[in-house]
Amino acid sequence: MTAKPSNRKSVRKAATVSRRNFLKSSMTLAAGGMLIPFKAFSTECDFTTDDIEGPFFAEDAPWRSVIAAADEPGDRFFFGGKVFANDCETPLENAIVDIWHASNDGCYTIFENCTTGNPNNDDYNLRGRVYSDADGNYAFETIRPGFYGNRPQHFHLRMMAQDGTELVTQVYFEGDPNIASDSWASDPDAVNRIIPLTEDTNGFTGNFDIVLDSPPFLDTDEPWKPIPEYFALFPAFPNPFNAYTEIRFDMGMDSHAAVEVFDLSGKPIKTLSEGFLNAGEHQAVWNGKDTMGNSVPSGMYVIRFDTAHFSDFQKVVLIK
Ligand SMILES: [Fe+2]
Repeated sequence: MTAKPSNRKSVRKAATVSRRNFLKSSMTLAAGGMLIPFKAFSTECDFTTDDIEGPFFAEDAPWRSVIAAADEPGDRFFFGGKVFANDCETPLENAIVDIWHASNDGCYTIFENCTTGNPNNDDYNLRGRVYSDADGNYAFETIRPGFYGNRPQHFHLRMMAQDGTELVTQVYFEGDPNIASDSWASDPDAVNRIIPLTEDTNGFTGNFDIVLDSPPFLDTDEPWKPIPEYFALFPAFPNPFNAYTEIRFDMGMDSHAAVEVFDLSGKPIKTLSEGFLNAGEHQAVWNGKDTMGNSVPSGMYVIRFDTAHFSDFQKVVLIK
């Protein structure tokens, strides 16, 4: 598994040195041209502090806000907040917020064999990513993390702003008896990451606002497109087909992907492409034969394109 959009990150980094940001910074120049530190004019603006990533981060988490199945054991937990730029005021849109945490039993999926209530056998259970919206909001529905070892309960977060600024941190909960003895949670830098919780009949709610060391404005040559928009499955051609049909698809980022043919009952016919693919344009060809190399009957078939971030399908018709 790889897959941070590192190729895009380098582009965004370069774009942030923009005239608009320069002009904004220039406003800190006092009369007479003397450079006064920006903080001299601003109220206190503390960036969100980092924390250790730990051993259980997994890339390529699905894009979703509900990361626990309805019958996942544990107390339901509604977690969210706003992402702000480094002025502590301007909401950051399209910042990636990636969350992962332990189950009610203190177990991390992918790395450990966790018994869960997840009905879909979801490898990425209790993991997910979202983009902050136009007002900087992000939100997840999950369960309250359990204890493991001597650690307090916590969410792991990994964030990336549009300009490529990254932050890895953890969020703790007020009143947790394990905070005092935990070297990370008891660090003075963590004090703003120990959040109060409220509880009602639906479960717990916790709010956590994030300030990234990222400028409020971007001045890029092209509008930012959230990564999933770069994924696409294009219409097969020709369709209907006789000898073969070609299926083009775009990968928005490096990821595992599969293109498979099924009949209308859902029976797998043939895998056209499966494996780790780089971001960019790809194509697969189906010659109307199954995995054994036998020609399949005339009729309608379904071609599915699946990645951790995007899925789509289309129907094709084989005519003999
Ligand atoms: Fe952890």
